[in-house]
This record gives sequence, structure tokens and C-alpha cells, in this order.
Amino acid sequence: MAMFSTLVSPHIAKLHGYTPGLQPSGTGWIKLNTNESGYPPSPAVAEALQKEIGNDAFSLRLYPNPTSEPLRAVIAAYHGHGLTAGNVLVGNGSDDVLNLLVRCFSNPTIETGFTLPSYSLYPVLVSMQDGRSSAIEFDRSMQLPVEAIVSSGASAFFLTSPNAPTGVAFSNADLERVLARFRGVLVVDEAYAPFAKENAIPLLARFPRLVVVRTLSKAHALAGIRVGYALANPEMVELLDRVRDSYNVSRLSQVAAQAALTDRDYYDRLINKVVSTRDRYRSKWTIDHGWFSYESAANFIFVEPRNRAGRSGKDVARSVYDFLFARRILVRAFPNHPLTGSFLRISVGTDEEMVLVDQALIEWTRSEKQS
Ligand SMILES: Cc1ncc(COP(=O)(O)O)c(C=O)c1O
Repeated sequence: MAMFSTLVSPHIAKLHGYTPGLQPSGTGWIKLNTNESGYPPSPAVAEALQKEIGNDAFSLRLYPNPTSEPLRAVIAAYHGHGLTAGNVLVGNGSDDVLNLLVRCFSNPTIETGFTLPSYSLYPVLVSMQDGRSSAIEFDRSMQLPVEAIVSSGASAFFLTSPNAPTGVAFSNADLERVLARFRGVLVVDEAYAPFAKENAIPLLARFPRLVVVRTLSKAHALAGIRVGYALANPEMVELLDRVRDSYNVSRLSQVAAQAALTDRDYYDRLINKVVSTRDRYRSKWTIDHGWFSYESAANFIFVEPRNRAGRSGKDVARSVYDFLFARRILVRAFPNHPLTGSFLRISVGTDEEMVLVDQALIEWTRSEKQS
């Protein structure tokens, strides 16, 4: 670093990059720390990939469709609500899409807003632009701070709904209250919306400054393929296209995403399964241990463990984290914010995985090691 200290842009010199959840090497882990799917993608995905590689041996020699045009059309048809390919921008994961949005709407003279706690990539992206951040804190209720967002004066405001790491979804009624009066662009990051009862897509037709961001990494079990997208007004799509890499989504990713989105039955079943497992374990942990968790509309449970003395806290959460880690069960802790420090976020896994997590939590409550 010292070698480049006089050359690097000053704001990059002091930047702290995003820290992704641990991706452990080796096998035998129950990996419930980054909200991936516990289940495999639709078999149609592997078939489509094999076809793309095998039937036309030369296809990988050629660049992909630069705008992912056929995939844009499939995405628009998948969501309906009058959307067309012109309302869709496809990215290399939704992180790519979020990056393009920040590139367009953040700079040193304007404020870009987000809530705290929320997806911690937003402030990092804003810092990469040397942009000014306007962070709005939740209170423990985790309800949407409508007035604070409306009066934030931000050029763009990033909202995660359902929120991460809490799992709390914001109603369309609340989003409309923001959209009716907020003068900036409202980006609703709906990475977890397939697991929720409601989503903001029906609002797009009425609110041209709304952008909905989606990913195939969670509900569609394709985190490894890296496809996300924005649904927005065509003028917004045109802006994002200006700052996008020309070939930002690989040939194989485009093919895999199209195949996934055409197997709706498979994913409807998968999502129902995850939702019922989530609700079952959430109530179980409330009843068995008396542990608080927020009502989750996502594929994870944000739970606040308590020790035998009934105390919760950062140290208690850490003790459970370590106990699980020692049993090769990986969950996520968020020790850096007062509203999240006493919680753990546990992604919903398969039935077998959840039985093992549940047993480990029971063992922890009985163990001598708890704080
Ligand atoms: C709220 C939120 N948005 C976006 C992403 C990134 O998803 P992708 O894999 O599409 O880049 C995540 C991943 O964890 C997330 O939690």
C-alpha cells in the first residue's frame, strides 16, 4: 500500500472495502451465513448450461449478448405488470446493479441515503464514489422511518425490503408514503422479496423514480451464477446502461437465468418450503427458548439468544456463534451496531440442516459454556 500512497485517489486510500460473509474452504460445513439457498437450482438450469456448452462448442469463443436482451425480455414477462424489456437492466449479481446506481447518483456534492442497519454494501459503494452519505437509523421496532427518508434530501435512497439483517418487510402502503413526497430516486433492494407476502413491483407503473432491484442468488439458488437486475423506468435503464461494462453478464449466466425463470413451478415449491421451515423454526425458538426474533419475510431468522439467566447481549450472541462454529455450523453475527450486536442471523437451510442447528442450540442452552 505504501508504494501507491502518493498515487492512489485519497478517498480510496482511506476506503474500507466490503467484508463478505465467510466462505469456508473444506467440506462438512452447514453454511447458514450468507442466505444462499439450501436447495439446488431447477434441473432446467443444468440442462440449459450443458446445451450451451455442448451443442455449440464454439459459443464460449464469442462474447455474450452485450445487453442481455433475451434475458431482459424473459424477466419482464416473468414479472408482468405491463413491464417490457425496456424496463429491465441485468447485472453481474445485484451488487453490480447497486454499484451502477451509486455510480449514477453519488458524488462528493450530493447525499446518497440508506438506513442503518441494512445491507452494508451501500456505504462502501458510496465511499468508492467519494460520495456523501446520509444514514438514517432505525429504532428497535425496525419500522420504516418514512418522514426521515422523505426529508433526507438524498439524490438516491437505498432501502432493503425485506430488510437485512432483520428480515422485516416494509409495506407498499409505507413505500407509497415515501414515494409520494420524496424528491429523489428510491431504490428498493428486494433481494429477499420472493419470500415475502408483498413486493414493490406493482408500484413501478405509478412512481417513475422507483427502482426495484432483484437477484437470482437467493430464492433461485443461483448465487454462483451472479445474476441480478433492476426494474425501472426506461429513462433510468438508459442511464444505467451508460455506466455498465459492455459485457457485464456472461453467456452462461444469461442462459442459466433464463432457464431458471421459466421453471416457475419448481421455484414456487422451493420458496413455499423455505417459508414454512422459516416460520416453524422461528416459532419453535420463541416457544422453546423464549428468544425474540423479528417477524421474517426473508429466507433467514434474525434471533436474539438469551442465556439461562435470561440475559441477551453481544457476548451471549458471540457465545452461541462460537458454539455453533465449533460444530461446523456457520451463521452470521453483526457486532458493530447496537441494534444488531445481540442477534444472530441464521439462514434457513434444509430440514436436515435445521434439525442439526436446533439440536446445537438446545445443547448450548444446557451447556456450561454459555455466558
Ligand atoms: C440486501 C442484499 N442485496 C443484494 C445482495 C447481493 O446479491 P447478489 O448475489 O445478487 O450480488 C445481497 C446479498 O447478500 C443482499 O443481502
